[in-house]
Amino acid sequence: MAVKIYENEIYALQTRNTSYIIRVGENRIPENVYWGKRIDRIADFAGEASPAPVNMQAPHCLKEECASFGGMRFKEASLKVVFSDGVRDFRIGRVSAKAEGDYLELVLEDAYYPFRVRLCYQVFEEEDVIKKWRTAENTGGDPVVLERFFSAQFGLPGTGYESLNYNGRWGMEFQAVSEKITSGKKVYESVHGLTAHGNNPVFIIQRGMGEDFRENQGEVWFGSLEYSGNFKTIVEAADAGFLNIVTGINDTDFAWTLKGGERLEAPAVYAGYTDGGLEAMSHRMHRFCRRQLMPAALADKPLPVLYNSWYSTAFAVTCEEQIALAQKAAQLGVELFVVDDGWFAGRENDRAGLGDWYVDRKKFPDGLKPLTEAVRGLGMRFGLWIEPEMVNPVSRLYRLHPDWIYRYQSREVLMGRNQYILDMSRQEVREYLAECLDTLLSENDISYIKWDMNRYASEMAGGGLPAEEWKSLWHRHSLGVVWLIKTLREKHPAVEFEACAAGGGRVDYGAMRWFDEYWPSDNTDPLDRLFIQENYSHLYPVKYMRAWLTDDFGMDARKIPLSFAMHAAMCGSLGIGTDLNRTSEEKREEIKGYVETYKRIRNTVQLGELYRLRSLKNGDIQCVQYVGKGQSAVFVFLDHERFGNPLQRIALRGLKEEALYRFVLEDREFVKSGAYLMHAGLEIRLCGDYDSRLLLLEETGDTTAGKGMEEGYAYTGK
Ligand code: DGJ
Repeated sequence: MAVKIYENEIYALQTRNTSYIIRVGENRIPENVYWGKRIDRIADFAGEASPAPVNMQAPHCLKEECASFGGMRFKEASLKVVFSDGVRDFRIGRVSAKAEGDYLELVLEDAYYPFRVRLCYQVFEEEDVIKKWRTAENTGGDPVVLERFFSAQFGLPGTGYESLNYNGRWGMEFQAVSEKITSGKKVYESVHGLTAHGNNPVFIIQRGMGEDFRENQGEVWFGSLEYSGNFKTIVEAADAGFLNIVTGINDTDFAWTLKGGERLEAPAVYAGYTDGGLEAMSHRMHRFCRRQLMPAALADKPLPVLYNSWYSTAFAVTCEEQIALAQKAAQLGVELFVVDDGWFAGRENDRAGLGDWYVDRKKFPDGLKPLTEAVRGLGMRFGLWIEPEMVNPVSRLYRLHPDWIYRYQSREVLMGRNQYILDMSRQEVREYLAECLDTLLSENDISYIKWDMNRYASEMAGGGLPAEEWKSLWHRHSLGVVWLIKTLREKHPAVEFEACAAGGGRVDYGAMRWFDEYWPSDNTDPLDRLFIQENYSHLYPVKYMRAWLTDDFGMDARKIPLSFAMHAAMCGSLGIGTDLNRTSEEKREEIKGYVETYKRIRNTVQLGELYRLRSLKNGDIQCVQYVGKGQSAVFVFLDHERFGNPLQRIALRGLKEEALYRFVLEDREFVKSGAYLMHAGLEIRLCGDYDSRLLLLEETGDTTAGKGMEEGYAYTGK
């Protein structure tokens, strides 16, 4: 049993290697008294005194599970509730508990008002993860307003913690920054209407390692929010001598009215502890995501090699040219051919067409069929791009329903990328989209959808709601998106869905629940990508990370050789985006060779364990190793040689000490033990600018070695 209730109202959430202990004190406040390495003798927690006397000031000093605004507490709260008479604090009168297998709930009832908060916990014992979420319930008749309704609160004792999150913008996602939290607080958030390209809805905390986060040593406490919307995470050095962490739906411009009898559920947080550094955290969460979060149909299957035409044709899509691209893509070994933006009615450029999700008859006079049949005939599956939450003013949809967007009636509506945001809180808008996308998927042979979102939100007003409820629209929009993707997935279970939001604007565990993969960045520069990919992999699985080869690397004006670019793309779920109609036969042959190699290691890369061995952030080279069944793939990258020092010694990880591995290095074949490779390491020669290597190790005697792709890639979709 993963959840245990002890005397003195002590509740233990036990995973294989960790314990999370909650105690309800005399003050009726649930408090976290321990989170860390597993302790079995829970009775030991009974005698501990609270850090402060049990009086009105005590709550301020406690690592509360659900600190509310108000009372004698001045740290960050995870709840702020306003009752109809203007009272703005929540005082717990009664706590009751229910435990069942791996589930625990603590019900906190207000001492005076008919209102309760249900703190919910689920233990994933095998995966070493706990899930925390909560509901607020108005059990009376008068309305109650939630002005802050975060998902969870955590506390870590003492001081000296560092916090890691990401900084960035479009084309520069996932730039990791770690900072000491010695005083005050650090806020990570999005106010963009979706997760956006800057901070990410996660927390990663390590204690006083003295410098940057350690890759494979040290204690790490981490959590990730299952939410695609405005979020806020606050990491605070509480003056009572502990680290206070709150996370959930952003309370900036948020208010949610619960009428009598109504309830609201906050998104879940998945959290864990390890003493094995970032590497152990990544292994844990990659596995957890595959087993518990990702859509089940593809969670344990590697993704196909895809071709996407965006970087070749942009909006200038024609049936003939796409067929010509498809023919060349098939020759490379591509398995899924995707037409990006530009295929639907009126989409000549980014000023028109969004909302009209039917085929442009000028570009496809006979519909999509000639193209989809050609793609099938070439042995590939077919995919399309959509951006359902948006509408261009120049579109049939907007002409018919100008009132379907968020807007202030007294002001001119703002545009981003020439588009407005559809009011997804409204049932009729969602139903229109569901119907027309269902028709698209039913009438055409489509196996894959790339779901994009290319502008941030503003002027959240409408929803058929009174003005005082407009602050709920940010959250209602996110719920509307979930409704739509869920509806489409239920109707078309065999279709693969990719999330994209101008690159990596929607990378979060909320999207992971519904999408099979992400497009992490519009920046395809292979060197920039190494930095993005390294940090992305902290909490997001490799197979979720689409990585393409393109001609024009976009952000930076440098020239990078094909080998380096292919190797960088092969570190994730491989895609090709080069303009094959304008690529020489010789180069296409070269790309084909890399695709063949990728298929040999695909299972290992997408489903194996990832080791970030070296980083260009703090060293001369970048090196990532993937360990799969009987096989390991190691990618090494040098951006520029320094001081004539071409040799790099790399100690591998994750191999079996006793096993023997066969590999080719500098045209010579070697067989070495796992112990040698991990302890003595390998010397690899890289020189000049943008040099790279892929080292493939096959376990000798393991008959499954090298067969990764052919056996594993049994796609069950349509
Ligand atoms: C932004 C995406 O990130 C790109 O990959 C591409 O799909 C464009 N939108 C199309 O408009």
